[in-house]
This record gives sequence, structure tokens and C-alpha cells, in this order.
Amino acid sequence: MPAPPTIRLAHRAEAHAIARMSRDWIEHGLGWSWTTQRVAQAVDDASTNVAVLLKDERLEGFGIMQYPDDGAAHLVLLAVSPLLRHRGMGKQLLRWLEHSARLAGSTEIRLECRADNVNAIAFYQHLGYRQGGMVGGYYEGRIDAVRLHKHMAATP
Ligand SMILES: CC(C)(COP(=O)(O)OP(=O)(O)OC[C@H]1O[C@@H](n2cnc3c(N)ncnc32)[C@H](O)[C@@H]1OP(=O)(O)O)[C@@H](O)C(=O)NCCC(=O)NCCS
Repeated sequence: MPAPPTIRLAHRAEAHAIARMSRDWIEHGLGWSWTTQRVAQAVDDASTNVAVLLKDERLEGFGIMQYPDDGAAHLVLLAVSPLLRHRGMGKQLLRWLEHSARLAGSTEIRLECRADNVNAIAFYQHLGYRQGGMVGGYYEGRIDAVRLHKHMAATP
């Protein structure tokens, strides 16, 4: 039976690998905004959780969630290696981040997703997120975003 993945907070030394995952799996077609330096700052930031997923000791996914002061956590990035998709890894990573958000006192999770990313939108909806409005030109003024949100109290 395959070993389950390990999900934990990222180490600063993993910032470059995480930034590359963001560039290759999320920010494709856009400028690279989540650079190594920005990810390292997020790792150091007390109001941000950078989580990594390791499978067989290899870094295969990550998620970044910010905790602003308004009670709503903001999921900024989430991705799993293309080779490991559709095996429940993204769900485990998201559940880990949701659990952390609950412990941090968040009552809602919000996120924006590229409007052309129909798979991710379906993934989030499947896991209890509701679609809100569209934000025109959210990404570099040329790619629209869909807002999604989930009230934590509604789903234990
Ligand atoms: C979005 C992403 C994280 C999903 O990860 P994943 O590991 O493939 O998803 P999972 O296997 O954990 O799927 C979890 C559930 O969502 C469902 N799901 C996944 N993709 C789906 C889709 N396109 N349509 C409908 N349901 C979907 C699965 O069937 C599964 O349901 P179950 O729990 O009832 O079995 C992954 O596809 C990814 O990294 N995409 C590229 C990066 C990205 O787009 N990130 C999001 C924007 S920041």
C-alpha cells in the first residue's frame, strides 16, 4: 500500500522549489510573480501559511494561505504535481490549509482563480466553494478571475 503524503509547513530552503512550482503549474502564460524571494518572505510571514506536500520524500505540491485581519483567510496558491493529480492530493492539501485556517479563527476562506481554469474551479466547487463574481483583468489586466468562497461553519 503506498505511503500517504506528508503535509507540513514549508522551510525557507524550499522557497525556490515552491516558486518554480508556481511558475510552471499556476502562473504559466503570466509573468513570474511568486519568485523565490516572495515565497521566502511568505514563509517568514507570521500571518501566512506556506504548506508543502511531500510524497516519497519529494516535494510534489504546495499551498499558500494568508490570514488578513478581517476573519477571512485568503488562499493565494495551490498546486499539485501533474503526475499526481486526481489522486486526492489536492484535496488533502486544501483540507490541511482549511484546518489551519479554522485553528487561526477564520470563518471564511476566499480565493480568486483564473476564469479559464475550469478544472480548478470545478475542484473547488466540488469541495464546497461557492462561486461569486468575476473580476475583469485581475491577472495583469488581461486575464479574468472568478471569486470563490467557503464559510467554514457550514462544513465541519
Ligand atoms: C486543482 C488541483 C490542485 C487539484 O488537485 P488534485 O490532486 O488533482 O485533486 P484531487 O484528486 O484531490 O480531487 C479532489 C476532489 O475534487 C474532484 N475534482 C478534481 N478535479 C475536478 C474537476 N476538474 N471536475 C470535478 N471534480 C474534480 C475529484 O474528483 C475529487 O473528488 P472526491 O474527493 O469526491 O474524490 C490540481 O489540478 C492542480 O494542481 N492544478 C494546477 C494548479 C491550479 O490550477 N491550481 C488552482 C489555482 S491556484
